[in-house]
Amino acid sequence: MKLHHVVLVLSLSVVATIAVASTAAIGERQQVMKSNGAATKSIMGMLKGEAPFDLPTVQKALATYQENTTKFVTLFPEDSKTGEKTSASPKIWEDMAGFLAANEKFKADAKAASIAIVDEASFKSTMPNVVKNNCGSCHEAWRIKDAQ
Ligand code: HEC
Repeated sequence: MKLHHVVLVLSLSVVATIAVASTAAIGERQQVMKSNGAATKSIMGMLKGEAPFDLPTVQKALATYQENTTKFVTLFPEDSKTGEKTSASPKIWEDMAGFLAANEKFKADAKAASIAIVDEASFKSTMPNVVKNNCGSCHEAWRIKDAQ
């Protein structure tokens, strides 16, 4: 094989890898969000007073939120704007800095809450804002409503 053939084959395989990875990115970021959903479900009963307060479960949910932010923002390559039933708004790619800031705010709020929440009273005063001002606000700004 001549050198330029080798180069061509190599660059084609790189393109193929990126194409597979971007489709996978949509599924992966939805999995990360499903994990946020499951963590939130684990504390919802406590917030509504339907389940007994359990500090370790609350701390686990807040740790999951923080861990998820790290991976989440790596899953928005340029060619993952459509497909796979994504509900990500095109605005994410138009203002990536703004989107990254929303993700950082979520991480910081979850971290602050993990320090502030020490008992049921602090849980009930802190946790609703973490959910409302992050899950709710980010979805409002950076998700397509029709797809939800
Ligand atoms: C920084 C922004 C941001 C924050 C904060 C955020 N989300 Fe999301 N969420 C998104 C985006 C963007 C999508 C759309 C992903 C896609 O379909 O490609 C999404 C999708 C979802 C989905 C649907 C996943 C699927 O299967 O399609 C669930 C459930 C979800 N989020 C739950 C949560 C919960 C619960 C929280 C808070 C604990 C949260 N999210 C916080 C941006 C965010």
